[in-house]
Amino acid sequence: MDYVEIKGGQPLRGTVQVSGSKNATLPILAACLLTSKTSVIRGYPHLRDVDTMIRILRALGVSVRVSYQRIEVTPGKSRKFVAPYGLVSTMRASICVLGPLLARQHKAQVSLPGGCVIGPRPIDLHLKGLKALGAQIRIEHGYVVAEAKVLKGSDIYLGGHFGSSVLATGNVIMASVFAKGRTLIEDAATEPEVVDLAEFLNKMGARVQGAGTHVIQVDGVDRLHGADHTVIPDRIEAGTFIVGAAVTGGDVTIKNCRLGHLNAAVDKLQQAGVDFVRSDGALRVRAPRRLKPVDVTTLPYPGFPTDMQAQMMALMSVTPGISVITEKVYPDRFMHVSELNRMGSHIFLEGSSAIVNGVKSLSGAQVMASDLRASAALVLAGLVAEGKTLVSRVYHLDRGYETLEQKLVQLGAQVRRIKK
Ligand code: EPU
Repeated sequence: MDYVEIKGGQPLRGTVQVSGSKNATLPILAACLLTSKTSVIRGYPHLRDVDTMIRILRALGVSVRVSYQRIEVTPGKSRKFVAPYGLVSTMRASICVLGPLLARQHKAQVSLPGGCVIGPRPIDLHLKGLKALGAQIRIEHGYVVAEAKVLKGSDIYLGGHFGSSVLATGNVIMASVFAKGRTLIEDAATEPEVVDLAEFLNKMGARVQGAGTHVIQVDGVDRLHGADHTVIPDRIEAGTFIVGAAVTGGDVTIKNCRLGHLNAAVDKLQQAGVDFVRSDGALRVRAPRRLKPVDVTTLPYPGFPTDMQAQMMALMSVTPGISVITEKVYPDRFMHVSELNRMGSHIFLEGSSAIVNGVKSLSGAQVMASDLRASAALVLAGLVAEGKTLVSRVYHLDRGYETLEQKLVQLGAQVRRIKK
């Protein structure tokens, strides 16, 4: 098992280039299933989750050619419709092949994704949306089996107990592109990744309007063609480097980031005392050594992203004073708390809030990553901890951060991967 070793104490300084968005790339690759023709996806991140989606497409009989700059996807005449457990169980986002398979093949059999350390992740909203379009759905031997001779446009309210759902919105949009008539999705997710998916679908010839708002309208078309698309930059990777600069008292210029996608995080960090200068698509982040504590509540976009909660907690851990971090998207997403406490943080949980009593310093320790964003938080904590931090289970990091260690080293951090 690999480890990442961090020697704390160096402020991050310099320029870093953000990669393409993982969470935009995954549903866009799934959307390629909606045509027999070739689509080209550029600017994608080189990550394990993207490899998994490529393996799922290949398992579905799709030809996928991968080079460093682009992925070329050609479904051709393949009529396979089963996304197998072995692949789906390793990545929940695989569920987003359900909508496109149903739309084009009229049948989809996708393994139920199963549990996840960030809490229960049901798919009821995905299924509700597909049923509203006319699909018959049953759960059989651990698989979702969805069938529909014809899909018909419908008015669908897609809000859930924890707000809107990003992948359910994507799935229902994709399922409805060929549906007869008009589909209206209400309480749709407004995340930039949904907007990017809609842009890709429209380039393929779909008629999707309103993405980025809570009401999305899809007018059914007869067929789609291939498209060429460059995915948006990864806002969570950008946010992670912002916190990296903030936690180390550094000075980092972040390139390839859409500033408008980062407003909630930038606003909170400004309140904490971080200084931002925006220019020409780049963001310069400068932080004083001492910040102020801020309270954070995660919410669907444009609120503060749940995918930045753990990183923000690492920052607040070393910001003297009390801050309260409340998780409203995944109320159980707190596996990183005990690991941060092993490094000397003072955090205790009260329901879906973490009360963080910021300390002056952390001390390096051997810690275990539990999920992607939790791993990022432990690496950030390691950057300021005294001595060495050893983060295990770094395969979580590889799912969502492209060459994180190299990028941190380029910014002056003392980080290396130890292969065991
Ligand atoms: N939910 C339901 N029913 C559903 C679907 C979701 O109750 O059918 C609930 C979830 O349990 C959660 C809330 O709705 O409480 C929001 O979940 P959502 O469906 O939006 O999450 P997702 O689409 O499965 C994507 C990202 C996650 C990110 C969330 C929230 C991808 C591949 N994944 O997941 O990213 O945390 O949106 O923004 O896009 C990550 O990158 O580390 C990651 C976990």
